[in-house]
Amino acid sequence: MRHKLVIGNWKMNGSRAANTALLSGIVAGLNDFGADCAVCVPAPYLAQCQAELAGTPVRWGGQDLSVHACGAYTGEVSAAMLLDFGASYVLCGHSERRAYHHESDELVAQKTVAALAAGLRPVVCVGESLAQREAGQTEDVICAQLRAVLEVIAAEDVAKMVLAYEPVWAIGTGQTATPQIAQDAHRFLRNCLADKNAAAAATVQILYGGSMKPENAKELMAQPDIDGGLIGGAALKATDFLGIIQAV
Ligand code: 13P
Repeated sequence: MRHKLVIGNWKMNGSRAANTALLSGIVAGLNDFGADCAVCVPAPYLAQCQAELAGTPVRWGGQDLSVHACGAYTGEVSAAMLLDFGASYVLCGHSERRAYHHESDELVAQKTVAALAAGLRPVVCVGESLAQREAGQTEDVICAQLRAVLEVIAAEDVAKMVLAYEPVWAIGTGQTATPQIAQDAHRFLRNCLADKNAAAAATVQILYGGSMKPENAKELMAQPDIDGGLIGGAALKATDFLGIIQAV
């Protein structure tokens, strides 16, 4: 039985004051919901998360990492730096990184390797654009994104990753994938994982992301292959984020 996992992706939002209010609201509202919970925050706020979340059930992580360990890579953040601030997770290949920073499937795969090597849990994000869905390419696209990662990681590391299916057309648009569309994609992705490591594929948490809200979370989470959510906008308000966790 896979444990449910809800991760908030703050994207480039937050301030120290707003973060304190949000984090304390989340911690205060968390009961024993039976879901794992984390926030992936802008790198400058990792120290704040470490200070304010240590000793609580809420984990924290980064939104990106460098493939390099250290050196002359201005602006980049290494896996070791994330670990230095107690991070557990790191997003790899979010569609906004792929779109705005031209991250290729191969680069995302290398980032996943760097995260795994450091002992961070990579949350590998895949998803098709609206044009790709309309052209009937969804499975080809998400398969290629995932395969690039599976080709370079060890079979035993499959169990250490989290996968997130985030259809680009559903992100920040209010247009959530239907539970059936999401379930079909998740099942397909689990089958791809099974080609690499069948036993691990059954244990990997596959999160859905894209306009998930308290109102639609329950139906999505009820699907057999949806193991949680990667939440953008609704992760910025404690009541909404808690509402999604509660829906689990
Ligand atoms: P929204 O929940 O705002 O659609 O964002 C989803 C997302 O991109 C999470 O990584």
